Amino acid sequence: MRVLPLALLSTAISIGLSACGGSSSDSGEPIEVPQVESLKALSTTYMGAAVPAGYEDQFSNGIETRPELQDVVIQHFDQITAENIMKSAYIQPRQGDFTFQDADNLVDWALDNNITVHAHALVWHSQMPSWMENYQGDWLTMMDTHVSTVADHFKGRVVSWDVVNEAFNDNNDNGYATYRDTDANSGGHGSPWYQNLGKDYIPEAFKMAHAADSGAELYYNDYNIEDDGAKLASVLRMADELLADDIPIDGIGFQMHVSYDWPSAQAIGTSFAKVVAKGLKVKVTELDIKMNPNGDRNTFTAAMAEEQKLRYQEIIKAYYDNVPANLRGGITVWGVSDADSWIPHFTGHNDWPLLFNSSLEQKPAIEGVANELK
Ligand code: G3I
Repeated sequence: MRVLPLALLSTAISIGLSACGGSSSDSGEPIEVPQVESLKALSTTYMGAAVPAGYEDQFSNGIETRPELQDVVIQHFDQITAENIMKSAYIQPRQGDFTFQDADNLVDWALDNNITVHAHALVWHSQMPSWMENYQGDWLTMMDTHVSTVADHFKGRVVSWDVVNEAFNDNNDNGYATYRDTDANSGGHGSPWYQNLGKDYIPEAFKMAHAADSGAELYYNDYNIEDDGAKLASVLRMADELLADDIPIDGIGFQMHVSYDWPSAQAIGTSFAKVVAKGLKVKVTELDIKMNPNGDRNTFTAAMAEEQKLRYQEIIKAYYDNVPANLRGGITVWGVSDADSWIPHFTGHNDWPLLFNSSLEQKPAIEGVANELK
């Protein structure tokens, strides 16, 4: 494995970057390239981005070898999340074999550049190593070893953790979503954690994370909870239970993999407000906006770029309008360049969900964010 010190690859902020005007090339028609100087300079809360990282073959787009991506991150963001390499499959691929090198390099690079780290994710049903999924021993002990070892390793170097990720299904059972359990009950994506430990795995994971790193803020993180529906109701009910039992949870992470037309800004604002009413922090952890969710908008037009700008703007506004300063955990976009987004792989269609195009030029979307931060 190559191990390159990231700090050596990173140059000083490229002042001319994105400041040239002109037009984007993803579309086939001219799209204005804005000249926002720095999102983080405008923001009063963490402004984050997920970054691909790691030297394994599967991460050929890792930030380590892309100084131009490093420059954009340094210029605009004061927080990063590792898109993959802190997940269990990568960090404990074999039982007891903790592979921290790639994540350590990334965290060191971030800290060297005054960027904080939101860490993702300790307990999740997906991207688990096969030994863990098929574990035959005591699951509570196995979970404790993973959570404690990983949280302790990054103690003092990360500001927050997604402790439990995506514990609920997307169904509506009398106004609530059910816990993810067997594959059969969970659309093929069940949770071995729930199957082996029941819903108690959630408070236990928070207690273990807090014991290992009492300085980190601890989040429950999920998607499709920003539409004020049954899944949010379940997350709120779980939060009530955790708070009643004095479980150390600081906030709820709204992933926010949304679309240009779903959900409404009003529903998003109401969802944030319901978490705020519990006294918990609200963190937007994985924001991106699908512009072609159904495959019927296959070219990114100037009109769609403008539509996306206004959509980003109304979402940031909903956040600032509904979350008071002391409960703002920050806003993170799930990637920098459209070329790196997970969305086209997921939907099977072209898409342009992020703030920068595939040439790392600014899109009108970034102006939508900047307008609301100002
Ligand atoms: O390791 C294989 C490699 O061998 C293979 O050649 C390559 C071919 O596509 O795939 C490689 O693994 C991929 C991995 O990313 C690393 O690139 C997986 O197939 C792919 O499924 C995986 O996708 C990640 C996904 O989580 C997995 O669920 C995305 O990059 C990542 O953006 C996404 O992030 C999640 C958050 O963690 C949680 N919330 C939802 C969000 C979006 O799904």
